[in-house]
Amino acid sequence: MEKDLIKTVIYASKKAGEILLKHFGRSLEVEGKGLRDIVTNADIESEDFLRDFLSKEFPEIGFYGEEKGGNLEGLVWMVDPLDGTKNFFRGLDVFAVSIALLDGKKPILGVIHIPTKNLTVWGAKGMGAYANDRKLELDEGDSLENSFLATGFPHGNPELVDPYIETLREILKRAMGVRRMGSAAYDLAMVACGLFDGFWEFGLKPWDTAAGAIIVKEAGAVLSDIYGGEWDIFSQTILTAKRKLHAEMVEIFRSIR
Ligand code: IPD
Ligand code: CA
Ligand code: CA
Repeated sequence: MEKDLIKTVIYASKKAGEILLKHFGRSLEVEGKGLRDIVTNADIESEDFLRDFLSKEFPEIGFYGEEKGGNLEGLVWMVDPLDGTKNFFRGLDVFAVSIALLDGKKPILGVIHIPTKNLTVWGAKGMGAYANDRKLELDEGDSLENSFLATGFPHGNPELVDPYIETLREILKRAMGVRRMGSAAYDLAMVACGLFDGFWEFGLKPWDTAAGAIIVKEAGAVLSDIYGGEWDIFSQTILTAKRKLHAEMVEIFRSIR
């Protein structure tokens, strides 16, 4: 993949981050969207900017955004213009811009920009993963009892709550610590950085996970569904963790399937 393309996408993610920061902590226009979900003018402004900018820079690449949709065929940008909208709306500073490049619905480049940390985490197929300029290389990890994990709650999917709670119960009994940050892209970026040893969640959407998926893989984490099966952007569950931990978690999740 061309370095210039990557640089341009990183630049775009930072510009979108500036748009978010301009609105953060100020009064927002907010609308309801789906089940107990919201969208703000910051989500829309960030997505509109990314659509315009990326379409002008790369007219041959399609665009799909969480808020306004698009086409998924061929080469396409898959964008979550503000991951962690509820945090953002309430003034909690955990949120991210997430941009993936999909080729035939498979992520080949991911850029996650976290404006409040001034941090851009990216990874490209065969090129490794980086946090700003630092190369990310995860070790094989430790056992669950020595691991610090992130997760997310399936709040907008009532039918997923019970099966999710089953998994949470088992992990809470065994892990060193579990956090729910409220932004899946942030969680995935932090797994790549080694801040979290692993992450699992139910019911995420392609724009939440596409960028993070390629980043964690390129950083050296294992990525699958929670039972160890192949993950794709439409999978109902996601599990990523350092190698040893991943195997232990898969075994636990299979035992309660
Ligand atoms: C949400 C966040 C959250 C996850 C939700 C997502 P949004 O994305 O990633 O962590 O638990 O399922 O919908 O709506 O803030 O872009
Ligand atoms: Ca999201
Ligand atoms: Ca979003």
